Amino acid sequence: MSAPGNLRVVERTIPEPGPGQVRIRVEACGICHTDAATVMGAYPGLTLPRVPGHEVVGRIEALGTGVSRWKIGQRVGVGLIAGEDGVCEPCRRGDIVNCQDPVVSGVTMDGGYAEVMIAEARGISSVPDDLTSTEAAPLLCAGITTYNAFRNAGLRGGDLVAVQGVGGLGHLGIQFARHMGFRTVAIGRGRDKEKLAKDLGAHIYIDTTAEDTAAVLKRMGGARAILATGTSGGAMGSLVSGLAARGKLIVVGVPQDQIQLNAFPLVFGGRSIYGSLTGTPIDAEDTLAFSVLENIRPMIETVPLEHAADAYARMMQGKARFRMVLVTKSGAAQSAGQPQ
Ligand SMILES: NC(=O)c1ccc[n+]([C@@H]2O[C@H](COP(=O)([O-])OP(=O)(O)OC[C@H]3O[C@@H](n4cnc5c(N)ncnc54)[C@H](OP(=O)(O)O)[C@@H]3O)[C@@H](O)[C@H]2O)c1
Ligand SMILES: [Zn+2]
Ligand SMILES: [Zn+2]
Repeated sequence: MSAPGNLRVVERTIPEPGPGQVRIRVEACGICHTDAATVMGAYPGLTLPRVPGHEVVGRIEALGTGVSRWKIGQRVGVGLIAGEDGVCEPCRRGDIVNCQDPVVSGVTMDGGYAEVMIAEARGISSVPDDLTSTEAAPLLCAGITTYNAFRNAGLRGGDLVAVQGVGGLGHLGIQFARHMGFRTVAIGRGRDKEKLAKDLGAHIYIDTTAEDTAAVLKRMGGARAILATGTSGGAMGSLVSGLAARGKLIVVGVPQDQIQLNAFPLVFGGRSIYGSLTGTPIDAEDTLAFSVLENIRPMIETVPLEHAADAYARMMQGKARFRMVLVTKSGAAQSAGQPQ
């Protein structure tokens, strides 16, 4: 990415990891909708040129000085927030995901649309052998974001929970909700994703183009939580009326437009709305472990790294089912069982 919107393949010299860093030979990298903020040059603090990508899985091939926890050859993952500064107030309170000056993959550092990537050792996660690299990659952003949002929401087994948006995040959110024991509703636009959503574990599917989502949820007793992964703010605010008393609208999607809110259902019923940002490297390990435990896998389409621009465009057009994953030459060789 050398200019906004201009995603193209370039050759670069291989960088050496600095102190506290590792160099990863990338095998797979998922394409997240948040990559649009890099590709369109909109992410605050972004400088160009920049390599996007924050759903990265690969093997460590070089260690910087002072790195003791990780080993050459180890398979690791890198997500969006990949290194806290350790000195800001949230960090000093132990809330490192909300660090005020974090390392952000594909934004403050080059990310995983590449054959190699430099990462902060404190920002990486171990990847279990039960997952292939292409399976693990989407779990490092789409997975952790939805898994963490649910597990931190104070929900109880059997609660009515909805996932708005059946895309990269949403299709994993549906699986996590179902496997955490919630009565799971998927909210999508049109009927074409209904079968897929139900196959992923949704008990109920609501088509927003044909039904009044909040009214349907209300008839079911109201949702204890709605995870909003959609990319339209206009559609999020009206979901509040579909919440049960004290229900929560958890915003993880980051639409360009404003979220329109009516105070009435917030006040009468003590409903709330708040945001949730991905998670920490250890949360990523928890996400991967839970996915192995419950046999949760992303539904993916793999594409060679060289076709990143096409794969990104397919994601932006809403055509991905449900995550585009770039595969490098090393990744392809690994999956073919060929030693490097
Ligand atoms: N909070 C975090 O830490 C975090 C982490 C990762 C991503 N994100 C953000 O989360 C959002 C989703 O990312 P993604 O990778 O899942 O994107 P994606 O794969 O493009 O999926 C977005 C989905 O939202 C659906 N959608 C949009 N408007 C909708 C509406 N009004 N009603 C129902 N569904 C609607 C789209 O459906 P159609 O196919 O019908 O258009 C699409 O399936 C993005 O804004 C991204 O930046 C946040
Ligand atoms: Zn992401
Ligand atoms: Zn900090």
